[in-house]
Amino acid sequence: MIGKAAGPPISITGLGAYAPDRVLTNDELSTIVDTTDEWIMERTGIRERRIAAPEQALTDLALPAAHAALDGAGVAARDIDLLLCATVTPDMMFPTSSALLADMLGAEDAAACDLLAGCTGFMYALAQAYGMIAAGLAGRALVVGGDVLSRILDWTDRSTLVLFGDGAGAVVLEKVDRPGFLGFELGADGGGGVHLSLPGSGSRHIEDATGNGYVQMNGREVFKFATRVLVSSAQAVLDRCDASVDDVDVYIPHQANVRIMDHAAQKLGIPRERMVVNVDRYGNTSSGSIPLALADAQAQDRLKEGDLVLMTGMGAGLTWGSALMEWTR
Ligand code: UT7
Repeated sequence: MIGKAAGPPISITGLGAYAPDRVLTNDELSTIVDTTDEWIMERTGIRERRIAAPEQALTDLALPAAHAALDGAGVAARDIDLLLCATVTPDMMFPTSSALLADMLGAEDAAACDLLAGCTGFMYALAQAYGMIAAGLAGRALVVGGDVLSRILDWTDRSTLVLFGDGAGAVVLEKVDRPGFLGFELGADGGGGVHLSLPGSGSRHIEDATGNGYVQMNGREVFKFATRVLVSSAQAVLDRCDASVDDVDVYIPHQANVRIMDHAAQKLGIPRERMVVNVDRYGNTSSGSIPLALADAQAQDRLKEGDLVLMTGMGAGLTWGSALMEWTR
């Protein structure tokens, strides 16, 4: 699916993020599984990640992020009409984390639902919130992306354990005076879904219980997929919006692996200094990855009025998605 924004100008007016306090370093991981700081740094660029405390679930990470986003937008929770929460690790399947979060925030009038699209969830949620506001169904939306992947990792499997971390981010979307979102491109390939899966997590019974309940990944296949779609999706949305890669001021790819991100930036022709990188400090936080990177960019004063911001996510499904927007303060 690809589309150029045709409705009223809609943008992000508030932004927040939260990551748990507990830092897990590569050296510490090397005492848990057979790995080294050198291997992880060289293959992924990840130095450390955050891990949720035992009593913390997704909504505990999402709540401070949501408060910060509402404060940034100067919006009260009761003025939110739509709350979308993109995650693959909700507190539980139901009640939904979005409904719990709406209750915690006091967003009494909000429609709320969770959205499952792997690490691309935040991009899908952004596009859906945009569409509902553009169509006049909602005035303001709170879009949350976050995950507590540490709960669904096999802590004896070095091939996945070293890659992921926990974190969440949130944005407020509403109508503004100037164009914010310019276009979206979203896609999915269920045929490739087998390469990144969580067997035993739903209604399909799986005879062989090995790995059930834990992330299973064919790293090399996901690597090839990621390097391909980060480029093709970004290029597609730029083309559809008649924008050039030279116009991109801030590039925010899914923070999965710095090698994948560098490859995408290089193929697209985006100078590295325009790319936001925080995978070294957080690892891959799945649905939290892009909003955490957005919040980092804002904290570093890298998001200026009128800047062209390109975001591209990819992940389980397999799924991918890009958004192109002009930043509005
Ligand atoms: O949101 C999307 C989520 N997933 C991704 O983005 C993952 C995409 N894939 C990747 O980032 C890379 O494929 C990995 C970082 C997962 C792996 O890097 P690689 O360069 O593709 O390594 P590899 O899988 O080809 O493995 C090379 C070697 C293997 O040993 P042998 O067979 O050569 O003896 C692995 O067993 O590295 C070994 N290995 C490790 N060694 C130390 C795998 N994991 C580790 C580890 N520490 N943590």
